[in-house]
Amino acid sequence: MKVLVTGGAGFIGSHLVDALMETGEEVRVLDDLSAGTLDNIKRWLGHERFEFIRGDMRDFGTVKKAIKGVDTVFHLAANPEVRIGSQSPELLYETNVLITYNLINAIRDSKVKFLVFTSSSTVYGDAEVIPTPENYGPLEPISVYGGAKLAAEALISGYAHTFDFKALIFRLANIIGERSNHGVIYDFINKLRRTPEELEILGDGTQRKSYLHVSDTVEGMLHIFDTFRREDKLVGFYNLGNDDWITVREIAEIVSGEMGLKPRFVFTGGVDGGRGWKGDVKFMRLDIDKARKTGWRPRLNSHEAVRRTVRELLRR
Ligand SMILES: NC(=O)c1ccc[n+]([C@@H]2O[C@H](COP(=O)([O-])OP(=O)(O)OC[C@H]3O[C@@H](n4cnc5c(N)ncnc54)[C@H](O)[C@@H]3O)[C@@H](O)[C@H]2O)c1
Repeated sequence: MKVLVTGGAGFIGSHLVDALMETGEEVRVLDDLSAGTLDNIKRWLGHERFEFIRGDMRDFGTVKKAIKGVDTVFHLAANPEVRIGSQSPELLYETNVLITYNLINAIRDSKVKFLVFTSSSTVYGDAEVIPTPENYGPLEPISVYGGAKLAAEALISGYAHTFDFKALIFRLANIIGERSNHGVIYDFINKLRRTPEELEILGDGTQRKSYLHVSDTVEGMLHIFDTFRREDKLVGFYNLGNDDWITVREIAEIVSGEMGLKPRFVFTGGVDGGRGWKGDVKFMRLDIDKARKTGWRPRLNSHEAVRRTVRELLRR
């Protein structure tokens, strides 16, 4: 494969790049380094099968140049901060919908056969069915980010059917692990480093969600892609997550314990009945049976993934 990974200098993207390089693919990364870093991909810089392009996907010309000669695109570039939706909805639109629109328009007149997109559990909003399967509906996102991901999914599906390329869409649970640069574990560690005696917890602490380690995520993406590329179906949707879930309070206890601290927990109370912020889905667990049927299964459950991540981030 000759692969383009957008957002390949970011958290999940750089792990995907590691896996693709290790299996001998030719890999090009397009990233504007707004959140990602060269440090994440430094082991591949200068490698003959690797190329890095620094560029902003909001510019169509940049995207068009970057997909030249590739047959497969893994599209991970995005601003993944759900929390900024109420302050910067236009930024979430641009970095999730507009850049995806640029990408699929560039794919239209290219040799690209496969597009893999990282969508999110947030497209389901406050789902009434938990664990939530891929065919749950109607989809009613409760955040600008979730809405933007759903819009991107819809555009990809429409373009794939119209312009004949295959598209694989992953709806990811909360992904955690080494190099993660946002999210609850990262926040708790930073807060406790500043004030070890007290930990502010957004919301009422009862938010309960499913977490997947990045190693299981990348393994799942590549395994399912390998199955999907040989199927007749043009567009595929797969949840990737875990069978168990964990509360924010439990995460706070694991982080504090691993740091050898006993802080006082201070709950902000949150908004709309204890959500961490406007648009925070309080209860999220995805039905992963469809992914499982391909032969993939997570090695670490949510609790194990959280503990492993805390240790990985503390080592950094
Ligand atoms: N981490 C999670 O829990 C999670 C959950 C569900 C979905 N996702 C999705 O997975 C993907 C990767 O997320 P991540 O956690 O690795 O985030 P990340 O911020 O680490 O990675 C995103 C990368 O995209 C780059 N980028 C952003 N805007 C760009 C632009 N305009 N042009 C070029 N590059 C740009 C950033 O520099 C960064 O390297 C995203 O699409 C995200 O929405 C993540």
